[in-house]
Amino acid sequence: MSTSSRIAGDGKIQFGVFFQGVNHTTVWRDPDSGSQTDFESFRRVAQTAERGLFTAFFFGEGLRLREHLGRIHDLDVAGRPDAQTALAALAAVTSHIGLVATQNTTYNDPADLAHRLSSLDLLSGGRAAWNIVTTDNAWTGANFRRGGFLAHEDRYIRAEAFVQTAKAIWDSWADGAIAGSRDSRRWLAEGGITPVRRQDSSFDVDITGRLPRSSQQHPVLFQAGDSATGRDFAVRNADVIFSRHAGLEAARKFREDIVARTLKAGRPADDVKIFPGQEFILAPTAKEAEDKLQWVRERQVGPQTAIAYLEQFWGRTLDEYDPDGPLPDIDPVVEVTNATRGNAFHGKSAKELAAEWRAEATDKGLSIRQFVSQRSAVNGRGLVGSYDEVADLLAEYAHTGAVDGFNITPWIIPTGLDDIVNHLVPRLQERGVYRTEYEGTTLRDNLGLRAPLTRRSRTRRQESEDVA
Ligand SMILES: Cc1cc2nc3c(=O)[nH]c(=O)nc-3n(C[C@H](O)[C@H](O)[C@H](O)COP(=O)(O)O)c2cc1C
Repeated sequence: MSTSSRIAGDGKIQFGVFFQGVNHTTVWRDPDSGSQTDFESFRRVAQTAERGLFTAFFFGEGLRLREHLGRIHDLDVAGRPDAQTALAALAAVTSHIGLVATQNTTYNDPADLAHRLSSLDLLSGGRAAWNIVTTDNAWTGANFRRGGFLAHEDRYIRAEAFVQTAKAIWDSWADGAIAGSRDSRRWLAEGGITPVRRQDSSFDVDITGRLPRSSQQHPVLFQAGDSATGRDFAVRNADVIFSRHAGLEAARKFREDIVARTLKAGRPADDVKIFPGQEFILAPTAKEAEDKLQWVRERQVGPQTAIAYLEQFWGRTLDEYDPDGPLPDIDPVVEVTNATRGNAFHGKSAKELAAEWRAEATDKGLSIRQFVSQRSAVNGRGLVGSYDEVADLLAEYAHTGAVDGFNITPWIIPTGLDDIVNHLVPRLQERGVYRTEYEGTTLRDNLGLRAPLTRRSRTRRQESEDVA
């Protein structure tokens, strides 16, 4: 039996919306485009998503404006509100959708972050989640006087200790921690709260959790990080992976890899849900969708953005190059690029990467703008097609169990989900692969998750044997 066939998928597909805020993938200069900071944009997207029975509203995190060579690198717009603040506001105008805050473990501290996340969880009625990232860019470090960023391995060592500490804080209130009656002498039950004392190479904390459990026990844990270390971290700690692997074949392969790692970690094969990020470009007919793709790509990456994008990898100004001409024929300044882009080089030197890109662009006859537009797209070409074509394709994803859902990155804010909710969701429902109502009120319910890992250690081995 192959590992992928052991997944007890439910034959359904779910949607989340990834509100990136500032990126190369949203058309900000169109007259129909909204603001990246007005609450109205968030409200409109979240309420449309909830009308379409989406599982989650997702916020990315960037703790510093992008910059390189001492200049702010704007992407047509710059600046985004703090995720948890915005999600708290959205909790008040939504009732079922999950609220996922991307928060990194490199610059935060567990005592503070665990409390803010459980506050969101309680205030939203059990709908909060934490998307755990370690953040791979150097410029963020300057905010915190830490002189850059930790090495990759060290970031994950800290992340592991961080998450264990956060879970311990959440679990420090026992189920019966509140004595229950206003008449009782003490509101808190004797021994209901256990202080958390942890000391390791990353943290030295002595803390008492400040809040009781929410209706979903504690926030759901997402993880986004694709290295082998990141994947092992996910199967040890997370409920859901926000992945980069969206194409059907790539998604199947990724699922197999994650299932193998999940079983090795002693968890049931289907315990870790997978939601790749993806862009959907839809229209009534295939031809119209292709035209729309062209239109979107031309507007996502303007001339100035294309040059600025390459400059990050070349480590020098490239003002003299024509955005509609070929890629620069000069070599990057290696030291600068390696230091500023973290792991974006995937182990290659800047010179190797530039040579590879030049060859690819020449081969395909692409200008700088066209090359950057393709390279910086959310996930390859995206899901492009007529409503019916894409509904059929998604039904295939659901039936093969390649993914549990997609985290959709709208290419325009705030109207980017309208065609998905109005035209795609009903077609998926007709095909029996999309929910027709929310299963529950908490995010854990709607994702179909088991109890939090820390609450089921005694049954874990048994469950694993049942599934395998
Ligand atoms: C789909 C996806 C979304 C991400 N979103 C963010 C984000 O919003 N903010 C951030 O700082 N890092 C984000 N990251 C980057 C992680 O912080 C980065 O990948 C991390 O350094 C982990 O490294 P790894 O991929 O080598 O495991 C994201 C990564 C992935 C795969």
